[in-house]
Amino acid sequence: MCGIVGYIGREDVKETILSGLEKLEYRGYDSAGIAILNGDGIHIYKDKGRITNLREVVDFSQMGTLGIGHTRWATHGIPNRVNSHPHQSSSERFTLVHNGIIENESILKKEYLQDTKFTSDTDTEVIVQLIQKFTDKDGDVPLAIRHTLSLLKGSYALAIIDSENPDVIYAAKNKSPLLIGKGEDFNLIASDAMAMINHTNEFYELQDKEFVILGRDEVSIYNLYGIKLDRETFKGEIDASDIEKGTYPHYMLKEIDEQPFVLRRIIANYQDENGKLAVSSEIVNAVKEADRLYIVACGTSYNAGLVGKSLLENISKKPTEVHISSEFVYNTPILSEKPLFIFISQSGETADSRAVLVKIKEMGYPSIAITNVKGATLYRETDYQMLLHAGPEIAVASTKAYTAQIAVLSILACTIEDDCSFDMLNELSRAASVMEGLCDNKELYENLAKEYLIESRNCFYIGRHVDYYTCLEAALKLKEISYIQAEGFAAGELKHGTIALIEDNTPVVAIITQEKINLNTRSNIKEVKARGAAVIAISMRRLSAETDQIIIDDVHEKLTPLVSAIPAQLLAYYAALYRDCDIDKPRNLAKSVTVE
Ligand code: F6R
Repeated sequence: MCGIVGYIGREDVKETILSGLEKLEYRGYDSAGIAILNGDGIHIYKDKGRITNLREVVDFSQMGTLGIGHTRWATHGIPNRVNSHPHQSSSERFTLVHNGIIENESILKKEYLQDTKFTSDTDTEVIVQLIQKFTDKDGDVPLAIRHTLSLLKGSYALAIIDSENPDVIYAAKNKSPLLIGKGEDFNLIASDAMAMINHTNEFYELQDKEFVILGRDEVSIYNLYGIKLDRETFKGEIDASDIEKGTYPHYMLKEIDEQPFVLRRIIANYQDENGKLAVSSEIVNAVKEADRLYIVACGTSYNAGLVGKSLLENISKKPTEVHISSEFVYNTPILSEKPLFIFISQSGETADSRAVLVKIKEMGYPSIAITNVKGATLYRETDYQMLLHAGPEIAVASTKAYTAQIAVLSILACTIEDDCSFDMLNELSRAASVMEGLCDNKELYENLAKEYLIESRNCFYIGRHVDYYTCLEAALKLKEISYIQAEGFAAGELKHGTIALIEDNTPVVAIITQEKINLNTRSNIKEVKARGAAVIAISMRRLSAETDQIIIDDVHEKLTPLVSAIPAQLLAYYAALYRDCDIDKPRNLAKSVTVE
């Protein structure tokens, strides 16, 4: 996690770095800092908390045309000022920001830095102290940095300032994302194009174990042996307006409302020249050749994977398993003879999923990435890719990426079947219209959230079949942004233990979108009501008068998870709003989880 930004140019650097960091806050927001180099030397401002706090400690009278910045999600060391980046070498000559984790930090300390006094608890400080040590020995800074990089085990995206050289920023990457932005008279680096899009739309991609010297007019990329590499720039695909909130109070609400549009964009992007839904023939062949699909993902993406399994098995009869990435790596199941792995990840950077990818690649198995970010690690390292086309998702809680994942999986499910009788194109378009209707009904969710959720310490979601998967996602949404303890349960399992948790006025949200389990889940509603629960139903049919209800219009049964997610997202949103929670940046979380 963590986000880094660096700028070297001819204008004052502070606002570029600070606003860049604001765009990267989704990557972590425990603490933040910047370093500026000018004629008076290096100036470091850092503190616990968010970029808004950082703005309060920055001395805006200090001007400089070279600087680096960092927003942190703590891994090593508590979030406090001392552990905030930038970090400096003991002599204060080198200043550095780091995203990633150095796994052999203690070995390196023992072997090379026994006499060095460390000031922080971070794994990062070892890097800057090593650079200093090797520079002191040989006097050659690029060599000292490359030497240091060759010793590091783990992940890093780095930006480094040498106080004795005001004309360059050094940068390097391994396993953590880092892009270079090319400008006229300036150059930038950042963990994500979003931090640079207001300045340039031209980028250089960096590969792992590459080292960069960034000047005002020149970018030089090297491998760790010091050999200069040729690299073409590419044009970014993000529009600056995609990353603004517009008139919305929160990104989450904007992203919820974007879902019908995203679904239509997905349909358009997966249509061939005859207007039929299609995916690349390589992907179709890879799926057909496999005897079993293994979906691997985390969090919300895992929940989308569960719906994907149902679609793949019901529409294309393809046996599919779904696994949590962090479990799969160390508790790998017995695999079929010809497995094909599908990695679902909004960010395409999730370390737990990447660890599985590394493992299955070593085993020689093929893989597909379904991701929102073109060029992300999982996108680059898998054999085949399918994009979500959801546009940047900035709120930490995933909404539009979740429904986009389900939509892309449903397109995959119908296109791998030669005689797919399911009219997916029409059904998805219909779902988009139903989504629109649900998004328009905000007053209802707002009132229900106020009445049932905001005073409650817990909430349960119950459902069967695919509705159970929606319950898992609905509960995750509620707990992560409102901090109400919420759980999703298979409705039939209630009586096997969970029902003991139901008390007077315990909110229970029942989701019923499948005809064949309609009566069963209705019985479960009666059971919880008899024990005092206050029930909200999200269903396709009207239930008894005394249950508050959100009705979903006619959508094909196989695609109901696409639409039933929306009331659940909005209930969570309004619960968090009236509980005065930080909706877009819930506590302790980060959007892109790049540590295992
Ligand atoms: C929850 C949420 C997380 C992510 C999970 C995986 O709202 O966003 O649970 O789904 O961290 O992230 P990706 O999809 O980027 O691999």
